[in-house]
Amino acid sequence: MADAIVHPSAPLVSGANAPETGVVGSVGIARERVAAALSAAIGLRDPYTVGHMQRVADLACAIGSELGCSETEVSVLRIGACLHDIGKLHIPLEVLTSPAPLSPLEYDVLKQHAHAGRAVVGCVGFDRGVDDAVLQHHERLDGSGYPDGLRGTAIAFEARIVAVADVVEAMSSPRPYRAALGVPAALREIERGRGRLYDPDVVDVCLHLFFTTTFRF
Ligand SMILES: [Fe+2]
Repeated sequence: MADAIVHPSAPLVSGANAPETGVVGSVGIARERVAAALSAAIGLRDPYTVGHMQRVADLACAIGSELGCSETEVSVLRIGACLHDIGKLHIPLEVLTSPAPLSPLEYDVLKQHAHAGRAVVGCVGFDRGVDDAVLQHHERLDGSGYPDGLRGTAIAFEARIVAVADVVEAMSSPRPYRAALGVPAALREIERGRGRLYDPDVVDVCLHLFFTTTFRF
């Protein structure tokens, strides 16, 4: 269980967004600790989800850095990705851990985690990008995603990055109802959906990270 909890000494935010002193620094550190506490809360109930969120955060931040994001933008991405599935606190465990593929009704219940998560992080006053990543990470460029069927650049930049990182990590890892499909299958999926489901620039950078750098989960 200890592995599932983000220890307060392991900051979610680093660099220019978290100075040590002053009012701004205190607010940044307080938000960082709130983010760690929220992550720990979901880890107590659902260790798989918190591990998934941390791996998604690693990939999302690597993508953001490759795309030229500032340290502050990468910090926002890290918090948003670390909390993107926080709304699963609202979803019954029997749905989250179902050993069988979900029924249409169960899938409708699962979809509620996007709005539930936005309601939780919205209480904290994080950067807007955090809220968007949590609410919109299942939106798809062609409008086929949820919860709002947003299209194209109506989907926030942070959410378009977390969406790709989320798919790659989820397919690469085992689930209660299936074995891991593996990183190659996950990369084929984002390549197939490039420009239709997933932001093409984000896909290109993600493929670059796995094929030509040392990035690994
Ligand atoms: Fe999700």
